[in-house]
Amino acid sequence: MSLRLGDIAPNFKAQTTAGEIDFYEYLGDGWGVLFSHPADYTPVCTTELGKTAALQSEFAKRNVKVLALSVDPLDKHLGWVNDINETQQVSVGFPIVADEDKSIANAYGMIHPNASETFTVRSLFVIGPDKKVKLMITYPASTGRNFVEVLRVIDSLQLTAGFSVATPADWKEGEDVIVVPAVSTEDAIKKFPKGVKVVKPYLRYTPQPNK
Ligand code: BEZ
Repeated sequence: MSLRLGDIAPNFKAQTTAGEIDFYEYLGDGWGVLFSHPADYTPVCTTELGKTAALQSEFAKRNVKVLALSVDPLDKHLGWVNDINETQQVSVGFPIVADEDKSIANAYGMIHPNASETFTVRSLFVIGPDKKVKLMITYPASTGRNFVEVLRVIDSLQLTAGFSVATPADWKEGEDVIVVPAVSTEDAIKKFPKGVKVVKPYLRYTPQPNK
């Protein structure tokens, strides 16, 4: 059975470019992003890890620890990091897991045999402080992910974890949000003193409550 939203993210111990880590200890009480890439020394993966490194301060600002993974060995990761740093003008500061026995890839369903029997696809999991899976995305090897979009989703996940709101299509930090259907308009007016705009009884907006 593969992982689904709301499931507990499996813990693991792993060899990484930053030494051996215990995943839960690495995450501490904060949020996490665990993402796989198909292989080291490949072009799209090089840009993805470079982009993630460029956004390290944005992840840190949101109390998110990042962990990359592929089934390549540690010495390969270590050599490749130099190339990422050189070609993407970054300094990769997050660990990369060497999951040679594929135990983590299998636990997280990162190998999709009809895409590749041997390599992980581009899976990405956002894990909350309760260690539950909050977001899963899967991209094929041919398509690099948008890590600014990952940050946008994390903003939504962190906001909606604390308030009875949801975020509309294309929402960005600072924009109006939606009052969840479970809250009556009468209660919403009390809960959200910045105001509630009722477009339809089921479509109600309020300014972002934590701004
Ligand atoms: C890449 O990262 O460029 C890549 C990896 C595996 C297959 C295709 C592309």
